[in-house]
Amino acid sequence: MPVLVTGAAGFIGSHVCHHLLSRGEAVVGVDNMNDYYDLALKEGRLARLTPHKGFSFHQLDIAEPGALVDALAGQGIVKVVHLAAQAGVRHSLDNPRLYVRSNVMGHLEVLEFCRAAPGFEHLVYASSSSVYGGNRKVPFAETDQVDRPVSLYAATKKSDELMSHTYAHLFGLPQTGLRFFTVYGPWGRPDMAYWIFTQAMLEGKPIRVFNDGEMWRDFTYIDDVVRAIVAVLDKPPAEAPPCRIYNVGNNRPERLDDFIATLERLLGVTAIRNSEPMQTSDVEQTYADMTALERDFGFRPSVSIEDGLKTFVDWYRSEWMARSAGR
Ligand SMILES: NC(=O)c1ccc[n+]([C@@H]2O[C@H](COP(=O)([O-])OP(=O)(O)OC[C@H]3O[C@@H](n4cnc5c(N)ncnc54)[C@H](O)[C@@H]3O)[C@@H](O)[C@H]2O)c1
Repeated sequence: MPVLVTGAAGFIGSHVCHHLLSRGEAVVGVDNMNDYYDLALKEGRLARLTPHKGFSFHQLDIAEPGALVDALAGQGIVKVVHLAAQAGVRHSLDNPRLYVRSNVMGHLEVLEFCRAAPGFEHLVYASSSSVYGGNRKVPFAETDQVDRPVSLYAATKKSDELMSHTYAHLFGLPQTGLRFFTVYGPWGRPDMAYWIFTQAMLEGKPIRVFNDGEMWRDFTYIDDVVRAIVAVLDKPPAEAPPCRIYNVGNNRPERLDDFIATLERLLGVTAIRNSEPMQTSDVEQTYADMTALERDFGFRPSVSIEDGLKTFVDWYRSEWMARSAGR
């Protein structure tokens, strides 16, 4: 029976598809291929998946009522990894409707798809560290209060967690929500700081450094994130209601200044820094308490920021820059 991966052309989704295919599972991917960032990236990720015999793809908008059921009913899907969303905190300031449509309506449609699927086993869906808002207590634990989001993006992710809880309670739909903390790696997202800084530094352009670099992020390498998703997917919650939430982070926040210094070392370039004030939709710190995922799944992140950034920088230089030059 195939696993459905939503957002399959996205950064995390494409890596999850690869992992599932490599362990012999059939995968059905869906994505609406929107142009929030360079479509060549999404097409490039898909091009690496389509040669696999076990992979099939549907271009569709998950928020369109009934679209998932119409396209996929009868395929025997009982496991879903739901990663499709309008991502990015800052973009949500100017495009609120996009976020509510893809992240709230889309999540509801995924829930409805799962509810209608005979013998459904497990929905694993993406939440975000942004739900912790401006919380001061660190590290952030799943039991902390998260009812003060500071961006609409965060509010949509919190809404997803609430809707999921309701479907677990009402319909016994087994689900696990994962709060990802700043995921990075090859085939990553060009709207995120690690990519924007790398590109600007290699082009000799200035980078925007908010709050004088006094910001901390718990960067999580993509392979660790995929390992966590797949471990969780294999083990649905059995309690009532069958609904859990876990942090997926590195448990080791990096100061923005140190992060830039690591990039400078790896790229052999000194960054031109433009200092800017903290933005109101941003938080000063993210820091994941990883006790729960380790307790229940024996999971520990294993890739250091130095090793992970090196792999990203190598990929960016050897593969992405070469591809971009050929366009
Ligand atoms: N990357 C991170 O650091 C991070 C951190 C926290 C949470 N997340 C969450 O993890 C998930 C995956 O993130 P990502 O970094 O891979 O982002 P991404 O933007 O690369 O991937 C999301 C994919 O979903 C697709 N999509 C968006 N709206 C859709 C819709 N209505 N119908 C069908 N497809 C749609 C996009 O085209 C994209 O390919 C998202 O839910 C995101 O909010 C990511």
